[in-house]
Amino acid sequence: LKFVCLSNDGIDQHMVWLIGLKNIFGRQLPNMPKEYIVRLVMDRNHKSVMVIRRNQVVGGITYRPYYSQKFGEIAFCAITADEQVKGYGTRLMNHLKQHARDVDGLTHFLTYADNNAVGYFIKQGFTKEIHLEKDRWQGYIKDYDGGILMECKIDPKLPYVD
Ligand code: ACO
Repeated sequence: LKFVCLSNDGIDQHMVWLIGLKNIFGRQLPNMPKEYIVRLVMDRNHKSVMVIRRNQVVGGITYRPYYSQKFGEIAFCAITADEQVKGYGTRLMNHLKQHARDVDGLTHFLTYADNNAVGYFIKQGFTKEIHLEKDRWQGYIKDYDGGILMECKIDPKLPYVD
């Protein structure tokens, strides 16, 4: 089992994993237009943290880091159907937080959570109260009415993964 964080960089193996992740998002996020999913997963401004087991993608999170604003926007998050509620979603989020802090230099995450995923995001430390000053994110993330805007502050020191 391994966790990787990468973007569309032209490496064949990365492309194969990104396509696998795009397919998981397509099935697990039925309200999202398929072409929108492909566009963001393959967009070079987005990164994806993925769980890989026996060279197969189990799930992942696609996000866009806004380096100057020091926050990341989570676009999609999903675990393949038969592997949900086994802890992968939590481990994935911990890897994302560690990478975003130590590699990207981010301090916060924002996401529009689906109603049925709010419980998962609360367990990952997200809140419905947005503490980040509006001028740090307004105009950067697009308003989207099919979800609830949630925020997570990344701890500056905590070891999220060992
Ligand atoms: N609602 C409430 N609680 C949840 C949910 C949920 N939908 N999913 C998981 N949890 C809880 C688990 O019970 C667990 O609680 P515990 O720690 O008290 O036992 C905790 O959250 C973590 O569970 P994991 O096993 O780590 O979660 P999982 O691997 O299933 O991943 C995820 C969670 C990503 C939401 C997965 O269930 C999934 O892919 N769901 C379908 C797609 C989806 O809804 N994605 C999010 C859409 S919003 C967006 O993408 C921005």
